[in-house]
Amino acid sequence: MKVAIGSDHGGINIKEELKALMDEMGISYEDVGCDCTDSVDYPDYALPVAKKVVEKEVDRGILVCGTGIGMSIAANKVKGIRCALVHDTFSAKATREHNDTNILAMGERVIGPGLARDITKIWLETEFEGGRHATRVGKITNIEESHS
Ligand code: RB5
Repeated sequence: MKVAIGSDHGGINIKEELKALMDEMGISYEDVGCDCTDSVDYPDYALPVAKKVVEKEVDRGILVCGTGIGMSIAANKVKGIRCALVHDTFSAKATREHNDTNILAMGERVIGPGLARDITKIWLETEFEGGRHATRVGKITNIEESHS
């Protein structure tokens, strides 16, 4: 599995923590930035991660900002992206099993690095269940096709 990861200035510490986690897990990743603590605009990092996912350059994406909200809104504007804002381990598992999410968003001002690591590990390791959930995800795709 290959992952694209990005953050704004509000999520850079957790981004570094998650890169260390992926090193431990033997998962390769591409960091699209940001790489300094100057104030930057989160859509500038959500877009390259989302594009890499839909263009199949990577399998999944991870985005971190202060709340995770801006990143998730921006990523979900890209056709083919199902980005979930997750701050608990139950949802991390459920959103892979049920929603087949391809980007995980989190907020560094909301949760700490330990929980962010647990959420990310679960999200990366959990498979989509398919079946009735595939029908529902297909209906999301239909909405995207008919309203874009
Ligand atoms: C940046 O101050 C902050 O707005 C951003 O990190 C994020 O929380 C936006 O949703």
